[in-house]
Amino acid sequence: MAGLAIGDVAERTGLAVSAIRFYEEHGIVRPLRNAGGHRRYDRADIRRLSFVMVAQRLGFPLARIAALLDELPDNRQVTKADWTRISSQFREEIDARIYALEALRDKLDGCIGCGCLSLETCALHNPADVKGQQGPGPRELLPPEGQLPG
Ligand code: FES
Repeated sequence: MAGLAIGDVAERTGLAVSAIRFYEEHGIVRPLRNAGGHRRYDRADIRRLSFVMVAQRLGFPLARIAALLDELPDNRQVTKADWTRISSQFREEIDARIYALEALRDKLDGCIGCGCLSLETCALHNPADVKGQQGPGPRELLPPEGQLPG
């Protein structure tokens, strides 16, 4: 049986062996075992682990990432079309995060509509906490209603 040893995958991804085993426990990768019982990884597992590393760094929960990866086939080679399919499912969540990050970058020194009314600009942007009528949280940093991922 060919395939990569866990050390090879660790070297290529920069992940610790223990981290790769952790991701295996969460169903992110499912290595086969050779006759000696050692894990053998597909090269495509490097891509799966790389995707997880980036998505987690951007704050997506592991359970959500695992659910997305679960939609990739494991009975054949994963294709670009497979990745495109899960990418389109993920797009709305990524867009919401981009919106929030841009809003955080651009509005952090101003009123964020959180109800504190602690800045001079709150009187202008959130007089008498009118933003509170739109719902809880920092209203200026959240995507408009209807654009939140379901
Ligand atoms: S910063 Fe909190 S309401 Fe303006």
